[in-house]
Amino acid sequence: MAVETSEAAAAWAGRSLADLIAHLVGTFHRPLPVMFDDAERELRSVGSAATAALAALDELRSELVAHMEKEEQILFPWILSARGHTAGTPIRVMQLEHRDTLERLEHTLALARAALGDADRPHLDALERSLRTHIELEEDVLFPRALAPTR
Ligand SMILES: [Fe+2]
Ligand SMILES: [Fe+2]
Repeated sequence: MAVETSEAAAAWAGRSLADLIAHLVGTFHRPLPVMFDDAERELRSVGSAATAALAALDELRSELVAHMEKEEQILFPWILSARGHTAGTPIRVMQLEHRDTLERLEHTLALARAALGDADRPHLDALERSLRTHIELEEDVLFPRALAPTR
């Protein structure tokens, strides 16, 4: 993970924060509703065995919708206004929310494993990969760059 992280940082080093934010929104925020719908369908295929996993998935979705709205409405415009170095407080709030999201993701996946057993779960796997990469890119590349006094 550390290697991937430094590779991601290196890959974005020569590109603007505006490009990075457009990438985050386009690649990770916008596709998420469809990814959740697909994951939900995957869980529903096993009927009532997935009730608890579906409830957890729904809470994860609500949490992320609110989180991404804060990023898009408040934090990303703040960073794009070139005052990102003053955004320490909202960035800390987003980092705390990322911790909650990752915990809720683990909880949801544990319930999903219990419901689906050894069955393939490509949509849940895709959702997990997307969320982990999304959060790593924000925490390891976007936030440090936004907070740096010069960029
Ligand atoms: Fe995000
Ligand atoms: Fe985020």
